[in-house]
Amino acid sequence: MKIAIIGSGGREHALAHQLSRSRKISKIYCIPGNAGTDEVSTNVQLNFNNFQVLYDFISKEQIELVVVGPEKPLTEGIVDYLESKKIKVFGPRKKVAQLEGSKIFTKKICEKFNIPTAKFKICNSKKDSFEYLSSTKFPLVVKADVLAAGKGVYICKTIDEANIAINEIFDGKFGKADQILIEEFLEGDEMSFFIISDGNSYKTFNTAQDHKRVGEGDKGKNTGGMGAYSPSSLINETLERKILEKIIEPTLKAIKEMDDKYIGFLYAGLMIKNDEPFLIEYNVRMGDPECQTILPLIDNDLVDIIDACCKSNLAKQNIKWKNKKSMCIVLCSKGYPEEYKKDVEIENLRKFHSNDTNFIFHAGTKKVENKIYAIGGRVINFVNISDSFSSSRKEIIKKIEELNWENGFYRSDIGHKVINE
Ligand code: AMP
Ligand code: GLY
Repeated sequence: MKIAIIGSGGREHALAHQLSRSRKISKIYCIPGNAGTDEVSTNVQLNFNNFQVLYDFISKEQIELVVVGPEKPLTEGIVDYLESKKIKVFGPRKKVAQLEGSKIFTKKICEKFNIPTAKFKICNSKKDSFEYLSSTKFPLVVKADVLAAGKGVYICKTIDEANIAINEIFDGKFGKADQILIEEFLEGDEMSFFIISDGNSYKTFNTAQDHKRVGEGDKGKNTGGMGAYSPSSLINETLERKILEKIIEPTLKAIKEMDDKYIGFLYAGLMIKNDEPFLIEYNVRMGDPECQTILPLIDNDLVDIIDACCKSNLAKQNIKWKNKKSMCIVLCSKGYPEEYKKDVEIENLRKFHSNDTNFIFHAGTKKVENKIYAIGGRVINFVNISDSFSSSRKEIIKKIEELNWENGFYRSDIGHKVINE
């Protein structure tokens, strides 16, 4: 089977790596990919946001299955377009991709189906929002109703901070805004919970914990993710049952009632408080860097699972997981998430290869004449699986130190809540 992966990050390299291990795959294309995906697949430089151009390529190369990594093309209808051309695609359609594209869409489902989530108010104007603020408690959370790569969320401790957030959002910082979401601040522990669904049935797809802040001790600015580990230490059978019964199943029921179905990975960002789950947000894809920690734990052929989803046949699959711990630490360009240098060579990288326990997944890299350059903020994901988070972290840090990339930095405390040393 010929397969195409859409995207260029660490998540897509992890997908390409895992799929490349299958004997059922004859060729993988990454559109556009990075210097790492180039090792396990054929990178194709085309603008996948132009669905017609994408379809022409898929059709010319007789690609049988398309796996979509990032959220943006999903919310813009890449699946609907390719399906209308009779191409098999793994990912949700535009309407249900609003679960990530519109926080208000998700909140309305929560309200109708009694899904536990932070109490909220949808405001239609600045005036509406300021009025609401005068009657509520702090801290609270102000959210733009668009895809904003995590930046449209303001945790506000004071009314002044909330005023700034409301003004910025309605003044168009994240594009045109007609509505805004103001919600209760939830205390507790966060967890990323994943399922995979074929439209009729679903299976759990493991859990993870990511570290979004740039600094040690989870301090400083938000980033795309500085590292992650899987499984989450919070999960147990009782909690899983609650998450499925109170959050996942009502959501899938809501989608069915809209005469739609959910195909793809679904990622629930949860807050766990006193063993009770609350939905913070949905993402309609795998997490990045959570994906890099979860995929190496699978003991099946990933192609079978994804293909079964596209054929409404997931119920017959038995997804097996290695009884191991997995960790990912992201090596970033100095300065990230603010300004950083681009086109800096990463020497020595070629000495590092993935094996059964260590994995190197590229993110913002490109190859020029056999040299590898950093072109993004998050550059290389180092992943290790072992019997303990502590030993995985030591192994990864050893590798990063061996690489000794002068322009890079990383967090050495990934997993601090589950490692006592
Ligand atoms: P989101 O983009 O909705 O996931 O929000 C980004 C981050 O903001 C989450 O991962 C949480 O850490 C935090 N967050 C969002 N909503 C809330 C909330 N209601 N209470 C506490 N923290 C929140
Ligand atoms: N790791 C957070 C995300 O993928 O949105």
